[in-house]
Amino acid sequence: MLNFSLIGAGRIGYMHAKIIKAHPKSNLKYVYDVNSKLANDVVKLTGCAKAKSPEQAINSKDIDAVLIASATPTHTKFITTAAKAGKAIFCEKPIDLNIKKVNQCENNIKNYKVPIQIGFNRRFDLSHAKVQKACLNKEIGDLEMVVITSRDPQPPSIDYLKAAGGFFRDATIHDFDLTRFILGNDPVVQISAFGEALFDKNAKKIKDQDTGMFILKSKKGVLIHINNSRRAVYGYDQRVEIFGSKGMVISNNQVPNSVEKFTNKSTNIKDPIHFFFMERYEKAYKDQFNEFVKCVLKKTNPKVTFDDGKKALIIANAAYKSLKSGKVVNIKF
Ligand SMILES: NC(=O)c1ccc[n+]([C@@H]2O[C@H](COP(=O)([O-])OP(=O)(O)OC[C@H]3O[C@@H](n4cnc5c(N)ncnc54)[C@H](O)[C@@H]3O)[C@@H](O)[C@H]2O)c1
Repeated sequence: MLNFSLIGAGRIGYMHAKIIKAHPKSNLKYVYDVNSKLANDVVKLTGCAKAKSPEQAINSKDIDAVLIASATPTHTKFITTAAKAGKAIFCEKPIDLNIKKVNQCENNIKNYKVPIQIGFNRRFDLSHAKVQKACLNKEIGDLEMVVITSRDPQPPSIDYLKAAGGFFRDATIHDFDLTRFILGNDPVVQISAFGEALFDKNAKKIKDQDTGMFILKSKKGVLIHINNSRRAVYGYDQRVEIFGSKGMVISNNQVPNSVEKFTNKSTNIKDPIHFFFMERYEKAYKDQFNEFVKCVLKKTNPKVTFDDGKKALIIANAAYKSLKSGKVVNIKF
């Protein structure tokens, strides 16, 4: 059994609390959030205790692991405290928005050998993982192209945008990680990025983007296209395609049911695809947590590491450099 403290009880923190509660080998002992009301909601849901401080939640002798789901700028501080306390760490993406803070954190924790897993949940989606396996097993021969479409149903609030640190570091970072997951040991070496605020006034106001398009190239010459939007009127659009010398594999959008309607006006009308990430990746969030619990209990290495979190941020930073300069940028890890 793994005893947890949860730091951050907002949107994703509450979801993690539910997952910890439901897992047969984990137990939520403490929750801490600067917003006391949100911490109370988790107490109500799970019956855990409300910690008076993050230090109390993290350093408690009766916990084995810390799940960090607080606001992004707090992650490195809590990772460091948890590593020093010898606790296993699951931390939501991104590690931070500032690569200097990430490097400093890496340096601060290098002597503490605790397992750390970063919350790149899309790697645990069964369909995306099948695409990666197909690539690894050469089911499509030699890989030539990767195409990732990732579009949110609707833009977030201006407060969210201000805290998120920019579209590429907040949203596209998932796709940069998915690209690295699919390419395996063939690193991306170049990126060309475009971004615009086409429809969201809030994004425009704070000089952020709501639409992005990226071309990357790997060391072996594989070409990768990623396209992102903060608005897709038909739901959460999540598609991954790999193309190679012997064919193509697609992880397509999923619908909540398999009903199709046929009338004299139309054929093959399906219900809308999933609304957003909580629905689309419900199983992936559970599977990534299960993997973390397994790793800690069996003392094996987590599949999504601190280094993966750092490399995704390095790609996002290169994307911003390309956007600003209008040039292709070399990626150096
Ligand atoms: N993997 C995914 O799919 C995914 C999805 C959404 C969010 N996230 C990540 O999860 C994190 C939280 O995002 P969210 O959408 O739940 O945001 P949120 O604003 O709903 O929740 C963040 C919570 O952190 C709390 N908080 C802020 N400072 C704190 C501190 N010093 N100590 C303790 N708690 C503190 C806030 O009060 C808030 O309740 C972000 O890093 C985000 O990037 C990941």
